[in-house]
Amino acid sequence: MNKLAAVSIVGMGYVGLCTAASFASRGIRTIGIDIDHEKVEQIRKGRAPLHEPQLDNILRKAVKDRLLDATTDMSSAADTNTTFLTVGTPSRPDGSIDLTFLKQATTDLGSALRKKSGYHLVVVKSTVVPGTTSNVVQPTLENHAETKVGRSLGLCANPEFLKEGTAIKDALHPDKIVIGSNDKKSANQLTSFYRKFYAYKLPPVILTSPEAAELVKYASNAFLATKISFINTIANIAQRTPGVDVGTVARAIGLDPRIGQLFLKAGAGYGGSCFHKDIQALIDYSNKNGYDPVLFRATEETNEKQATRVVDMAERLLGSLSDKKVAVLGLAFKKDTDDIREAASLRVISQLRKKGARVVAYDPVAIPNAKKILSDQIVYADNPRSTLKGTDCAVIMTEWDQFRKLKPQDFRAYMKTPNIVDARRIYDPEDFRELNYAAIGLGPVNS
Ligand code: UGA
Repeated sequence: MNKLAAVSIVGMGYVGLCTAASFASRGIRTIGIDIDHEKVEQIRKGRAPLHEPQLDNILRKAVKDRLLDATTDMSSAADTNTTFLTVGTPSRPDGSIDLTFLKQATTDLGSALRKKSGYHLVVVKSTVVPGTTSNVVQPTLENHAETKVGRSLGLCANPEFLKEGTAIKDALHPDKIVIGSNDKKSANQLTSFYRKFYAYKLPPVILTSPEAAELVKYASNAFLATKISFINTIANIAQRTPGVDVGTVARAIGLDPRIGQLFLKAGAGYGGSCFHKDIQALIDYSNKNGYDPVLFRATEETNEKQATRVVDMAERLLGSLSDKKVAVLGLAFKKDTDDIREAASLRVISQLRKKGARVVAYDPVAIPNAKKILSDQIVYADNPRSTLKGTDCAVIMTEWDQFRKLKPQDFRAYMKTPNIVDARRIYDPEDFRELNYAAIGLGPVNS
């Protein structure tokens, strides 16, 4: 790697921090910039403020090797060649994205670059609807930096496709790089940065307009979310059909290369900070441009209702949920993360409580985050077995490996009555034959 390469990344959230740590782990001098003093201090000590496999290790090493530093001072961006903007673009009530953070970061960056003499490349990594880089970021930047893109400023849209739980691996081995730009120099500069970073492992680079790059991100997440709602729809049909297991259907259709095996796991519906937010933003963008994207509305509606399917299954096993004690295993929106944003567990817990159930929940890492939202609405347990103690029903909401290890006898030994709703399909139905076991997408068993 070019020893002189130095980048700054504005916004030390999940994407920014994982990107910063990955860059630094390959020898790029990286400065993380954030307005949150506490977060910056934590990063400077080499400690990750969020749970992500591998992040702690590479962060600690990068800070120790002085390749990664963090600051609240935007002016340090001017000392680097390139600034990546990775600030959040949260949802507004109407589904559109709130650009407050992006505008503020761009304003501050522009001001910081005003006195800089050399060329500076600005890269928008935040998820933004088509047109944002050209119509919002560019004029704000040019105004405050008092120069033009194409002269001493470069500007690219470069969406990220990191998945929580595998973010470092994804950052080091992406399947593609998408670069949207209106001027050749910016695109060349960013391509050459990635060419050096990935060396002989450079993935395919798609060079396009900023608007197309921005849309690629939404199209990607909308497709993945739709694939999940599709398989959940098939699961709901399978569940009503004797002798059918959605897993077998998914495996079979997935062998067709046009369909593919991945993202065909039926469950309680997708969660996380991206799918719901991004589809809502895409729907809003599309509507504002005169087209109602019916498909994506159905994707979202199917997902929302999947929580009800899970609660219905518990209700069917128990007769009534009123005053029943229900164990919820898993709060995180998927395994290997402490993130509970938009987690299906929250939707399911809310419905269980509405029906009068008392909920006791366990998650290996997400309890502190869950407490911020659910506070004392539920009881928090210390481990899977103590969660099950004296309960009438257990609902598996996250596919953590430690839940997979539970045996039918554990449920039998600890629960008042071993009713199990496997909303993640982590168990082999054959093993649970003797228990009251119901699973998403598992039809009535022929006897
Ligand atoms: C998602 C995308 O996969 C990333 O490519 C993208 O960069 C990211 O959003 C983003 O926009 O930042 P992530 O939210 O981390 O990544 O999580 P996923 O692994 O995609 O899972 C999303 C949800 O779908 C989870 O609740 C997961 O359990 C669920 N899911 C996934 C299923 O129910 N079935 C599946 O087959 C796959």
